[in-house]
Amino acid sequence: MKLLITGGAGFIGSNFIRHILSSHPDYGVVNLDNLTYAGNLENLKDIETSPGYTFIKGDICDRKALEKIEFDTIVNFAAESHVDRSILDAQPFLRTNILGTYALLETAKKRECLFLHVSTDEVYGSTEKGFFKEDSLLQPNSPYAASKASADMLVRSYIETHKIKAIITRCSNNYGPYQFPEKLIPLVILNAMNKKPIPVYGDGMQVRDWIYVVDHCKAIDAILHSGIPGEIYNIGARNEEKNIETIKFILNKTAEKLNISEKELTGLITFVKDRSGHDRRYAIDPSKIEQEPGWKPEINFDEGITRTIEWYISNKTWWQRIISGEYKQYYEAQYGERLKT
Ligand code: NAD
Ligand code: TYD
Repeated sequence: MKLLITGGAGFIGSNFIRHILSSHPDYGVVNLDNLTYAGNLENLKDIETSPGYTFIKGDICDRKALEKIEFDTIVNFAAESHVDRSILDAQPFLRTNILGTYALLETAKKRECLFLHVSTDEVYGSTEKGFFKEDSLLQPNSPYAASKASADMLVRSYIETHKIKAIITRCSNNYGPYQFPEKLIPLVILNAMNKKPIPVYGDGMQVRDWIYVVDHCKAIDAILHSGIPGEIYNIGARNEEKNIETIKFILNKTAEKLNISEKELTGLITFVKDRSGHDRRYAIDPSKIEQEPGWKPEINFDEGITRTIEWYISNKTWWQRIISGEYKQYYEAQYGERLKT
């Protein structure tokens, strides 16, 4: 296979490239990424000279640039991915997540190639009870989720109208190495390490289903090779937890690893103003992918969190560069006022 992987300098994309290069060393990989604040070539430092790997700095909205690239399959990770940023300014989300997907769909139509579109469980919205299946109604609540749901609808329309070979995956919340520290789990680890307040939105009773990023990558690999074009696959680890419990669990493990007092770290927990439109519970039913192609997660939460904390402890230079750059301004704008209350 010759894969065009978009957004490969981000969190999941870089983990996916690392996974593909080690499990399919004969594959070609072109990583197309325009390096937004979330794109970081440091995420690929250890593999950048691998045979078969090429990086191109470019925008998925740029159809002319797409025309020049040689590939036979597209895996689309490129996106604006953070809910809080979509509340501050939705425009980049509409551009990349919708118009970017449209440009890739046009390219897939022209090339008659397989298009694997990486979507999210957030398109289904929130539910207090039960689990969303692949044919559940889409009821996105944040501008981010709405832009991803719009892209999913476009993909569906190209399957129906233009008969392109496309597959949509909808995964739950990922965590693991190389995650940008605006997302909950790396934020908690780094704020604990740096003894900074840990902001908990609202009452902290919101529920997320956490999956270790490498398990997500393996699920995409399985679907890429055995998934059925035209189908949608939910990907989840059946690992639901309330945010406050997740945070306490991470603090307990971090205290253990750093040999510091757990009480000192839990003392950093600070309840702040809730996120507007905050989804109470994401919950998907992953039975379809578990049955065929037969994927199951391999890393439980305890093991995944331990590996993640160890990674952030050993990769200080990676995150220090981030927290002293553009992220610093965002963090202050996002939390400055909230943490004063
Ligand atoms: P991320 O924000 O870490 O990375 C996104 C990458 O896309 C960055 O490298 C960025 O530079 C690149 N990018 C953004 N706009 C681009 C454009 N116009 N052209 C080319 N590249 C562009 O995101 P992530 O957490 O790795 O998520 C990857 C994908 O997985 C997204 O589509 C997201 O919606 C989806 N997803 C994420 C999660 C999660 O928990 N993180 C869960 C389910 C699905
Ligand atoms: P996040 O990692 O932003 O993922 P998503 O919103 O896509 O699920 O947030 C995960 C959960 O953690 C979500 O319910 C919001 C909450 N949260 C906090 O309580 N505090 C924080 O500082 C952040 C970033 C998130």
